[in-house]
Amino acid sequence: MKSQEANHTVSEIRSKLDIVEVISSYLPLIQKGKNFFGVCPFHDDTNPSMSVSHEKQIYRCFSCGASGNVFTFVQEYEHISFRQALIQLAERAGVSLNSISYQKKEDKYDKFYEIYQIAHKYYLNNLKTNLGKKAKEYLHSRTIDDAMIKEFGIGLSLDTSNDLIQLLEKKGYNLNELNEIGLANSNHDLYNGRIMFPLKDLSGRIVGFSGRRYDGKKENKYVNTKVTPIFQKGSILYNYYDAREHIRRKNQVLLMEGFMAAIRSITIGVKNVVSLMGTAMTKDQISLLKRLSLNVILCFDGDEAGVQATISNGEELEKQGFHVRVIELSDGLDPDDYILKYGKESFLSLIENAINYSDFKIKFLKKGVNFNSDEEVSDYINQVLLETSKFSDEIRRELILKTLAKEFNIGYNTLEKRLSTYLEHTQKENKREKKEIVRLESKKPNKYEIAEWTILYYMLMNSKVRNLFEQGKFTFSKERERFLASEIIYYNQIYGTLVPADFYTYLQDKKELLELLNHVLSLEIEEKITDEIINQYIRVIRENSVNLEIDRLRKTMKEKNDPLEKARIAEEIRKLKMGSE
Ligand code: CTP
Ligand code: MN
Repeated sequence: MKSQEANHTVSEIRSKLDIVEVISSYLPLIQKGKNFFGVCPFHDDTNPSMSVSHEKQIYRCFSCGASGNVFTFVQEYEHISFRQALIQLAERAGVSLNSISYQKKEDKYDKFYEIYQIAHKYYLNNLKTNLGKKAKEYLHSRTIDDAMIKEFGIGLSLDTSNDLIQLLEKKGYNLNELNEIGLANSNHDLYNGRIMFPLKDLSGRIVGFSGRRYDGKKENKYVNTKVTPIFQKGSILYNYYDAREHIRRKNQVLLMEGFMAAIRSITIGVKNVVSLMGTAMTKDQISLLKRLSLNVILCFDGDEAGVQATISNGEELEKQGFHVRVIELSDGLDPDDYILKYGKESFLSLIENAINYSDFKIKFLKKGVNFNSDEEVSDYINQVLLETSKFSDEIRRELILKTLAKEFNIGYNTLEKRLSTYLEHTQKENKREKKEIVRLESKKPNKYEIAEWTILYYMLMNSKVRNLFEQGKFTFSKERERFLASEIIYYNQIYGTLVPADFYTYLQDKKELLELLNHVLSLEIEEKITDEIINQYIRVIRENSVNLEIDRLRKTMKEKNDPLEKARIAEEIRKLKMGSE
């Protein structure tokens, strides 16, 4: 049977991978007891609500309920189909997918990626020719040497030529396509006479360019690829693909504005760096960071715009649960300028000494305050206290209060009182968040439901319990539970074994059953299964079945007029009651 073979391959791939390892390659996990925990990437969260079980090879978020096995994780994380996840994970597991049904279908956008590859090669080559001499000189004058040009794939678009379009048309691509993906403007090359920096998507494919002027004549310093089906500036971070491993390993990311800054930083060995390509930060970009590390060091340009961006982006990141630190660059320098001017060691020490976001904010709040105005001073103090309430360290809070008291000659107690109202507020906010999670988690099940779910759980783990079900020793009171039980039996008959993580894939199109499976697997259930425990739960289940049956019989009895019929049903009820005692 073909589908059975395919299923075998699927479970082979799954069994060769460790879900903890796979998920760790997407987001940081911390071990607590038997399980691993991380911040769930499937909803807006800051708490480590996702638990990953090594033993069961499944994950579950107790806040949003997302759960599944290694396939569903990759599918949902990468927004890809089951087939695509399978292909990816097969490669990772070193299993070959020769069954025809899993052959890679052509990606809708394969053509676009191809075009970008050709364009990139073309730009790279231009820089090597005589026509690229001036551009190369410019790059060298900015201390971007040939090794860096190579490493970062820097190229050149030629002045007033249509060579790229012509080249691509010769290769069979049409002008409409070239317009759609942002390489042509009507019937001209879109980029002319610019140094071309390739931009990669999350899988490392080139999907866009940023073209920089270098001869001083052009209007815009940079021209970026417009929004296309495969590119959107706000949905990527420059260097994200190449920085992923470095960020994970260090559990820290440096966030910059410009890609020249990132490039410079990488060349001095600081590789856990990404840049926004501007100062605006989108929700998508925040989620990208969240996947890698919650420790962000903001390293924006040392000008007014950079400071503003530090404040607004830092605020948002803190709100999203990041631990934010800040590097301040002086004299309007950007990281590129700074490193060139002061050198590697100096920059490394800036990273080392990056200050907490709250400290930066308190410093920032002081700027521009008119200290002769009581109103402004009081406003300032209130804002500082609000910031201070976010510190969990009591000693730090006290130090700030003391400084403020001294600086403005205000009673320490007055400040403390105000701070405590802010503290209360912050703590309430935190509690509210926690409560929401608990409420979603438990709907207070009754003892019969608990017994049924526990037995379903045991059916997944234990063949003895499956046999008892098959022998009709118990049944479930609700249809959904009954269906899941019969799927368990069926799966086990076909495959001869039952691993819950594989069972997930088998159930993938049966949403209701999947939900129940998730729920059952998430329960805190005693792992040791003894006959006594099994019997206890089965007794409870049967007690419930009997009660339900008695209820049903009573109802029918009421509807009957024939006294003989009534008597017969009454007898049935009596027997049931006796049997259950
Ligand atoms: N940027 C842009 N369009 C512009 C200006 C800037 O897209 N017209 C983006 C670029 O991605 C740039 C980042 O914003 O990397 C930061 O801008 P800026 O500091 O002006 O550029 P630098 O990276 O410092 O580049 P250079 O050193 O070459 O001036
Ligand atoms: Mn610069």
